[in-house]
Amino acid sequence: MIGIAQISDLHIVRPGALAYGKVDTAAALARCIAELNRLAPRPDIVVATGDLVDTPTVEEYEHLKRLLAPLQIPLAVIPGNHDARSMLRAAFPGQAYAQASAALDLSLALGPLDLLLLDSTVPGAPHGLLDAASLRWLDACLARAADRPALVFVHHPPLSTGIAHMDRQNLHNAGELAAVLERHPRARLVACGHVHRATLTTFGGIAATICPAPSHAVALDLDARYPPSLMLEPPAFHLHLWFPGGRYGEIVTHHVPIGDFDGPYPFFDVAL
Ligand SMILES: [Fe+2]
Repeated sequence: MIGIAQISDLHIVRPGALAYGKVDTAAALARCIAELNRLAPRPDIVVATGDLVDTPTVEEYEHLKRLLAPLQIPLAVIPGNHDARSMLRAAFPGQAYAQASAALDLSLALGPLDLLLLDSTVPGAPHGLLDAASLRWLDACLARAADRPALVFVHHPPLSTGIAHMDRQNLHNAGELAAVLERHPRARLVACGHVHRATLTTFGGIAATICPAPSHAVALDLDARYPPSLMLEPPAFHLHLWFPGGRYGEIVTHHVPIGDFDGPYPFFDVAL
């Protein structure tokens, strides 16, 4: 089994400040990291799918790095629309991004599994777009080893959720991504962020998920008359588990709430 924890949309602000005047995103990330460290067995890697900071500023990235320091699991990071490529690169010099400049795409091998992380950001804009170099890079990576299952991570979902203000800023060239995925059956999952809500569908013939945030959710507002809003719903992350078997194995995604909950209570009396 291989475990990939996905966290997304951390929106870290400067120390002592609240995001949107309401949300203590630093405390939320600290609780998330404690939960990740508690998992047994621990995941093999944590993938953070963008919007790591909020503004962005160098001070926010410094704060983010201090908050991430207690994490005892290897970490891979890609940007979201609230990030800045240059600041993110400078903050995480150990990340082996495929290109020396522009998009921060990242390929990682975890045993028999490949993780392909895509930078969907458009500098200065809230929506997502995979540039030609990233699409070519993804196609080449997937063409390299037909028998290795691959999971794709990208901040902007290539799908609509029914939340109008978020759907306007999703991945605008989703069709081009779908065309690449459909050429390569070894791609098994597209895992996204950006919407701060757990969402499940299919895309390009495979499973597609959106990861919730450790702090605040985008309100499930299916009526476009209301202003974009956040909700302090229960925080969570995703735990993607890959099990060997068959040609490509199996991928299962768990929604993991963050918090101290009552239990566990055994279902039955257990003789010790
Ligand atoms: Fe975002």
